[in-house]
Amino acid sequence: MMWTDLLCHPLWAASTVLLALVLRQQRRARWDPRACAVQLKGKTAIVTGANTGIGKFIALDFARRGARVILACRSEARGSEALREIREKSGNGDVHLRLVDLASMESVRAFAKGVLEEEEALHILVNNAAVSGLPRSITKEGFDLTFATNHLGPFLLTNLLLDLLKRSAPARIVTLSSLNHWRGEIDFAHFHGDKLTYFMDKVYNHTKLHNVVCTNELARRLQGTGVTANSVHPGVVVTEVMRHYSFVLRFLFQTIGFFFFKSPDEGAVSSIYCAVAEETDGITGKYFDSDCSLTLPAPLARDAALAVKDFDVCERLTSKL
Ligand SMILES: NC(=O)c1ccc[n+]([C@@H]2O[C@H](COP(=O)([O-])OP(=O)(O)OC[C@H]3O[C@@H](n4cnc5c(N)ncnc54)[C@H](OP(=O)(O)O)[C@@H]3O)[C@@H](O)[C@H]2O)c1
Repeated sequence: MMWTDLLCHPLWAASTVLLALVLRQQRRARWDPRACAVQLKGKTAIVTGANTGIGKFIALDFARRGARVILACRSEARGSEALREIREKSGNGDVHLRLVDLASMESVRAFAKGVLEEEEALHILVNNAAVSGLPRSITKEGFDLTFATNHLGPFLLTNLLLDLLKRSAPARIVTLSSLNHWRGEIDFAHFHGDKLTYFMDKVYNHTKLHNVVCTNELARRLQGTGVTANSVHPGVVVTEVMRHYSFVLRFLFQTIGFFFFKSPDEGAVSSIYCAVAEETDGITGKYFDSDCSLTLPAPLARDAALAVKDFDVCERLTSKL
């Protein structure tokens, strides 16, 4: 018998499907958002990158719980499509689209200004938007494009909204990092695109490490304010995250992912847990794994002195722009 015959064998096919189903069951988080009765009526939430992938499902969950939800997206067309879908599926008309390009500090400031002028409160901020696999590109403000999008933009946005969050306390900040932060390094030259290797997810990994480092430091600075800040890993999730990679890699990711990775709604669970669950009330400066368990981040992300330095550098880089 040829090995190709084996692949077509009904028993082999059945056992593969069974294995995929078992793995699918196992990858489910311990916490089920559908079983969580927490309502968000009267609460306001912002989700960046809410037009697709994980962000869209986080926003949909908040909308279903009755929150006023602001979808912070960079494309009017894609944002409007998501807005229509989320309103329709949740039956919540209090969902709104606001445009922001997180790679531009000017755009982040304009977005934050609009929020501060029009919103009376902000209870949940989810820093979800990110990019991976981009080639070298320097923004007009002088930052590496991936660093600006994934870290400096969300960092500035969070800082600009802090007073509103504090006035609205209890409030929660959730930043989507990634398990990949373990492979990241901290070198402040990276912010300007220096000393970076543009290969696969190398630059992305650095930005995801900065996400955890600065979130931990933010949490420390927010002690006693009623505002918590945590980072999460959503799992490996079949979204558009591979859109800047080659066709072959995208094909492999989608194909393998169909059986073994999470769907976007499953990928949203750890962030929703962190943002709404009663169990996570008051927890701050922590890193949540994709199954909603608290887990230790990489050693660099636990270096308190490095965190102070990183936060100061990011503050200095973004404060004048
Ligand atoms: N998928 C995974 O396996 C995985 C694993 C670990 C961590 N994560 C993290 O999960 C988060 C969500 O990722 P995803 O998988 O849902 O990715 P995705 O499907 O590619 O969605 C990314 C979102 O970010 C938005 N975005 C990108 N650049 C932006 C900018 N400059 N300004 C504003 N919005 C921008 C995108 O908007 P457009 O559609 O307009 O481009 C899109 O809405 C990210 O932080 C990612 O690092 C994902």
